[in-house]
Amino acid sequence: MTIVEHLAHRELTLVTGKGGVGKSVVAAALGRLLADGGHDTLLLEVDPRETLHELTDTPPSGGEVVRVSSHLRLQHVPPREVIEATVRDHLKVDLLVKRVTGSPVFAHFVEAAPGIDSLAVLGHAWRIHEGMGGRSLAGVDTIVLDAPASGHGLSMLGAPAAVAEVIDSGPFGEMAGRLRGFVADPARLALVVVTHAEEMPVTETLELVAGLGARLDRSPDLVVVNGVYPEYESHGLPEAAARLWRERRRMNERELARLTRYWKGPLAVVPLLALDRGPALVAEISRHLAGVPAPDPEAAHAR
Ligand SMILES: Nc1ncnc2c1ncn2[C@@H]1O[C@H](COP(=O)(O)OP(=O)(O)O)[C@@H](O)[C@H]1O
Ligand SMILES: [Mg+2]
Repeated sequence: MTIVEHLAHRELTLVTGKGGVGKSVVAAALGRLLADGGHDTLLLEVDPRETLHELTDTPPSGGEVVRVSSHLRLQHVPPREVIEATVRDHLKVDLLVKRVTGSPVFAHFVEAAPGIDSLAVLGHAWRIHEGMGGRSLAGVDTIVLDAPASGHGLSMLGAPAAVAEVIDSGPFGEMAGRLRGFVADPARLALVVVTHAEEMPVTETLELVAGLGARLDRSPDLVVVNGVYPEYESHGLPEAAARLWRERRRMNERELARLTRYWKGPLAVVPLLALDRGPALVAEISRHLAGVPAPDPEAAHAR
């Protein structure tokens, strides 16, 4: 089985990684591969700034659901809006919702309570699968979430438990209780970690793998090492540039070796490509992800 078929059977694939490593291009590539396989896929973006539409060649979503192709939809929802939707589900009466979400106490609560953002985003995905996403999101089989840069994978997945600990009733308490099981279940939620083959990102990826094992008893479904320098072939560059290229390549190889000493699960290595940000880059990255084998259900990776 390929990683794409594996992800197709999950309700949500969370794509995490530090800002700038290629999280959005990988999320877009996975969305495209899933849709090409005939699965009705939603590509979901929750960063305050909207960028995924540039990768799918569609107009900005502005909160609306945009159709990319016959099996691919795209939605950008600012975190604040998914938080309000959670309150709306619970209170049902619009006037009350306005009074609650408009109050300074609520604003303070949202800013102060760690994990509310992450909880609401996970809740948005959960509600879509429960058929509560409205007509424009009906029939979604699987969701790919381009996680916010601030939402480190572990803090995002730990959010339901963290919130449940401090709030046990009301819209967020109830949501936290429901989502606890959802994030812990590898059959429902998949995790893709994107990194560069550089010292800091590799160290952080290994820490994330260890933390996931220790705290949630699970491991990533896929690690993507993006932007790896290709082998230098005589490109006619000046010697200084050629040397720099070879050094970057050696550094990438060294860090990749360090990663794979500990990480034995599914791995995709995507080269640095001479393409601008856009659909052509996404298409090329898709090709590097397509053939990766699914996780071995028997193996306990990197523990
Ligand atoms: N494999 C690659 N080859 C060349 N450029 C890439 C590659 N992956 C990402 N990029 C570029 O790097 C930048 C950051 O990618 P992006 O997906 O927006 O990162 P993130 O979402 O993690 O912040 C973008 O300009 C993108 O076009
Ligand atoms: Mg991004």
